[in-house]
Amino acid sequence: MATLNAKSIRTADRSSMFPKILEFPDQLKKGWAIAGASPVSVDFGSIRNIVFSGMGGSAIAGDILKSVLGAGLRVPMAVNRGYDLPAFADSGTLFIASSYSGNTEETLSATEQAVGRGCRVLCVTSGGRIAEIAESKHLDRVLIPAGYPPRSALGFSLGVLLQIFDGFGVSPVSKEAFDRAAAFMARESVKMADLKNKSNAAARLAKKLKGRFPLISAAEGSLESVGFRWKCQFNENSKIHAAVLAVPEMCHNEIVGWKRLAATKPYYGALAAVLLRSPDEHPRVRLRMNVIRGLVEKNRGKAYEAQAKGSTAFERLLYLVHLGDVVSLYLAVLNGADPTEIDNINFLKKKLGQ
Ligand code: PA5
Repeated sequence: MATLNAKSIRTADRSSMFPKILEFPDQLKKGWAIAGASPVSVDFGSIRNIVFSGMGGSAIAGDILKSVLGAGLRVPMAVNRGYDLPAFADSGTLFIASSYSGNTEETLSATEQAVGRGCRVLCVTSGGRIAEIAESKHLDRVLIPAGYPPRSALGFSLGVLLQIFDGFGVSPVSKEAFDRAAAFMARESVKMADLKNKSNAAARLAKKLKGRFPLISAAEGSLESVGFRWKCQFNENSKIHAAVLAVPEMCHNEIVGWKRLAATKPYYGALAAVLLRSPDEHPRVRLRMNVIRGLVEKNRGKAYEAQAKGSTAFERLLYLVHLGDVVSLYLAVLNGADPTEIDNINFLKKKLGQ
């Protein structure tokens, strides 16, 4: 079985995903600074709803932003992962086009529709067609550094968005709280990278997940976005299938599936429940998570918990995002997979471009 050490990471991580993942705390700060230097002309008082359009590594920033803004956001916000705008989008809509490359066809299509419908458009990109459209149509745009695989640039886009929404006066994360969280994450990131530490939470979880498919349970609203990030990072970095299940909804269907675990031979032993846990859980969600764990174990399944750390809900959310990124990297190494390579996505994009 492959081991986890500096040498095995160097061998598998041929295009250096790990250092990019570890930049997360620094990217957050840079993203905030970049947005601070990029004037945004939107008058948030006139906004009736928000549509955030993006795909994959560029869409997840919208999900996480929505989790962070939480119940304090008084206008509806939709994260749109498709070609078409929802019917309600109009001149009262703040439309955020998020595409790292700036060339993703679904996001380009939605952006063109948003311009046509007179939405207030803000583009977050490193360049490409989206930057060109922003330039030619005089749209608000924030340019983030180029040269990263999109999913490893999440810190930049999240930093940008949090600065902008702080400016709108609708974010619970002030500049001071953001700086404290970034400093906290810098300390925690060092710990997650320390493989000499036997209690390294990321390494321990990755080893447990080797050879299994994670079914990630996460609290609806507050952490489902983080669970989705874990799922996508397992797919793209570790090259495995994974699913995210929102609690409480999954308590009304998915949990029954564990019943036949022992009888369904191909799955037995191959699935693992991963529960994202946080003190911010609704008390009933906490109870449900405990019962889910018991049910999985009773049916002879594996259940593992990822515990959030931090002194604020925002810090705990960032901690879990980063933990999932590092776990996915370690799991890629254990699987002997290059975390950066996404040949299947590139193949599909090329086919569609022909
Ligand atoms: O991680 C990836 O590379 C993908 O999920 C991309 O983010 C996705 O294909 C969209 O591309 P972009 O982020 O350039 O808009």
